[in-house]
Amino acid sequence: MKPLSQKTAFLTDSVIRRMTRLAMDCGAVNLSQGFPDFDPPACVTERLAEIAAPGPHQYTPTWGAKNYRQALADKVGRCMGIDLDPDRNVLATVGSTEAMMAALMALTNPGDKLVLFSPYFENYYSQAVFTSIEPVFVPLEPPAFTFDPAKLEKAFADPKTKAMLLCNPSNPSGRVFTKEELTFIADIAKKYDVLVITDEVYEHIVFAPHEHTYIAALPGMWERTVCCSSLSKTYSVTGWRLGYIVACERLLNECKKVHDFLTVCAPSPLQEAIIPGLRLGDDYYRDFGEKYTRKRDILAKGLEEIGFSFTMPEGTYFMMVDISDFQRGMTDIEFCEELTKKVGVAMVPGSTFFKEPVGHLARVHFSKKDETLYEAIDRLSKIREKM
Ligand SMILES: Cc1ncc(COP(=O)(O)O)c(C=O)c1O
Repeated sequence: MKPLSQKTAFLTDSVIRRMTRLAMDCGAVNLSQGFPDFDPPACVTERLAEIAAPGPHQYTPTWGAKNYRQALADKVGRCMGIDLDPDRNVLATVGSTEAMMAALMALTNPGDKLVLFSPYFENYYSQAVFTSIEPVFVPLEPPAFTFDPAKLEKAFADPKTKAMLLCNPSNPSGRVFTKEELTFIADIAKKYDVLVITDEVYEHIVFAPHEHTYIAALPGMWERTVCCSSLSKTYSVTGWRLGYIVACERLLNECKKVHDFLTVCAPSPLQEAIIPGLRLGDDYYRDFGEKYTRKRDILAKGLEEIGFSFTMPEGTYFMMVDISDFQRGMTDIEFCEELTKKVGVAMVPGSTFFKEPVGHLARVHFSKKDETLYEAIDRLSKIREKM
């Protein structure tokens, strides 16, 4: 038999999603893969019910239905402070996962280098492998998860570096990069002619006093930034698989060519049903942020009382927790498996996210009903007896 792809041969399935399967098998509270156990906004589910029979049920135009792209252009343009043309600047994708894959396939050549911060979201590494580009990691130093500008500039200065994939707000570190940090990244991107592909799926989960800055909106960056984001997190619809790319026409046109053949279009009834969500006013985003602040504080207090230390996130719904006091010789992977099976709470082993050998962390998320978080805390409070 001829050998199968060398690309998949040395990749595994996602550890994050594997932990979800284990959690389901064990009846554990799933604080591993980040998705809510509460409902999307009512206006969205009501619209979905309304269109169940009349549809749309067939393919939309490849770039997304016109009214959906218009709603995206209005909402995203308002947040970014950039006037977006739905025909030239907006591409509807199947989640931000597809958006990033399409951007990487469209804008890089095999052998190019892609700068990533470490810790990084698990998907990026596999996506780099699939596109035959080489990830170059620049550490975000725990516990504050800040970067060394000199190390980042060195990575950008390599002539093979084509792009940086920048997750902001950042999963799993919880960092929300400051305007000064982003200005530095923008300056070196311009200096060394590097593209920035963003992953901004947590743009509306940012805790005061931190604020989200769109790097695309910084001077000179619109022409070299490909903004990838998602409706998954902002409207609590991770299963709908709705994402988008927003970019200047020159860059977007290349991404469109990949998207056209990769997925054809995003699900048509869901494009239609999410429109009332995109039309929600500022109150929605304020309440949404406040809800997540409360959830963060519930989990933080519970973890602290049990004796876990962690870095308080500035944004996203993730926390990196120090598990070293509870590991008793286990690797982080063994620990997370044991925790799921014996304590009934699933976390993701921290090593999933680091280039460096880091074995004493686990990632938890707080995108759950308050009662689910209290249940997780109650179970975790018995960790010393059960493990
Ligand atoms: C940083 C980050 N990017 C992208 C995604 C995937 O988003 P989507 O559902 O839009 O594909 C996730 C999901 O957890 C994420 O945490």
